Amino acid sequence: MNDFPDRMTPGLVLDEAALKEAQKGLVERPTMNIRTKIIMGFSLMFILCAVASITYLIMGGQVEKKIKFMETVNNYSFEIQQARRYEKNFFLYKTNLPDALETTQNAREILKKEGKNITAVISQEKLNLMLSHLSRYESLLGSLRELIPPGSGENPVTLAKIEGELRQHGAEMIFMAANLVEKERKDVEAMTQWSRQVPLIFLAILLLVMIYLTRFLAQQIVLPLNRFVDYTLRIAQGDYTPITPAKRYKDEFSRLAIAINLMMDQLQKNQEQYLQTRKMASIGTLTSGIAHELNNPLNNICITTESLIDELESIKDEEKRKRLQDIYTQAERASGTVRNLLDFTRMGPPAFVPVSTQELIGSTLKLARHEMELNNIKLQYTPEVQDSRILGDFSQLQQVFLNLMINAIQAMPQGGQLSLRVNNDDEQFTRIEVSDTGVGIPQAVIEQIFDPFFTTKESGTGLGLSTSYSIIKKHGGKIEVTSQINQGSHFSVYLPKSKER
Ligand SMILES: Nc1ncnc2c1ncn2[C@@H]1O[C@H](COP(=O)(O)OP(=O)(O)OP(=O)(O)O)[C@@H](O)[C@H]1O
Ligand SMILES: [Mg+2]
Repeated sequence: MNDFPDRMTPGLVLDEAALKEAQKGLVERPTMNIRTKIIMGFSLMFILCAVASITYLIMGGQVEKKIKFMETVNNYSFEIQQARRYEKNFFLYKTNLPDALETTQNAREILKKEGKNITAVISQEKLNLMLSHLSRYESLLGSLRELIPPGSGENPVTLAKIEGELRQHGAEMIFMAANLVEKERKDVEAMTQWSRQVPLIFLAILLLVMIYLTRFLAQQIVLPLNRFVDYTLRIAQGDYTPITPAKRYKDEFSRLAIAINLMMDQLQKNQEQYLQTRKMASIGTLTSGIAHELNNPLNNICITTESLIDELESIKDEEKRKRLQDIYTQAERASGTVRNLLDFTRMGPPAFVPVSTQELIGSTLKLARHEMELNNIKLQYTPEVQDSRILGDFSQLQQVFLNLMINAIQAMPQGGQLSLRVNNDDEQFTRIEVSDTGVGIPQAVIEQIFDPFFTTKESGTGLGLSTSYSIIKKHGGKIEVTSQINQGSHFSVYLPKSKER
């Protein structure tokens, strides 16, 4: 028993209008290539990496500036503290005033030299404020030198006033420097902490983007690929329905769909051509039968015409009419055979219409009748009481049953019985059985008999059953076979019933 899919989509003929419509739909969409999408995805990742790296670089630069600033302010603060120490010495022992002036000068030098680095971190106003305190401090120290030239007497009131002012500015400068350093230290600490988190945040974002990109690419590539696997499977089953657009945009897969549609069109045309070749081959097998089929009525016409000419004067009008009627009947028979042949060899795309099973079997039997007589085959066929109709292409179905009948005849070289039976028990399918009492098919090869070019006959092509199989599939039907060696074979063809009568 052969395994075949239970049911297939009917109406599997490539329709030119549907093909044109599908191709138009596939072409007339805005383009969004998968290549562009991949480039966009990777550009997005690159931008993300670039933003993270630049942020990192900027942060590093800022930390560097702040550290440099803190160094400068520390140096400045150190010089001021020195100056203050000398200032105190001066008020206690009247020494170190030149040292105090020198260190103040050093502090000023630092602010001047590192001015740019300082203003990179704090505002110019703040720097000016620092400078103005320093200038004031310096000028107060200067005024001390003028006030107390060597050997001059002191003015305690003025001295105390200057001392107070010097203390105030000195403290102010040290306080300001300490404040600035503290603020920047906190900033640097915050930035270092932040810089520890940046890589983690960046990795998390990168992971999300990559998950999204992977899903997106899977959707763009894997889903269409699966769809195309389905398409090829259904094409392999003989369903040539054109592929129609599944998405809003056209991409590389649309070009593939267009190419597959064209391939289906070509495949369909080739198959039609191939079927035609098969039909002509069948006619070749049946030549003697057809010749006989034509020869008999032609002979009869000749004989009757001859006798009519010979006896034209002597026979009665009634006899003349009878013989003319005979000639007409024989001519009708010959013309019927020719018509049947022409119908069978008719070329053209398949047309699915309601087909009478009685007519189908009757006309096919006519083609094979002589072959049966020659091989001493008895026929067992009782047409159904009520004719049934199947949906299909008459000429193609004739080809199927002719192949089955000829195979059956060829399987009974010593003669035998060919049985045909139509069964309509099923609601959807008509089952037509072709059985013989021939040699049977060995179990070892029964799986292969539907393969193209499989034959056990010397002059066989091995294409009869494979063609029949694809025709039946195209009709949405199936074929099954059982066989026993030396007892015979039994083929069952299931074809969908026509709803129209
Ligand atoms: N009724 C049958 N009885 C026994 N064997 C059969 C029968 N029908 C088919 N076969 C086996 O299946 C093979 C393939 O059949 P198929 O009709 O495809 O090709 P073929 O008959 O060998 O060649 P062709 O049909 O071109 O003359 C046959 O060669 C034969 O071995
Ligand atoms: Mg055959």
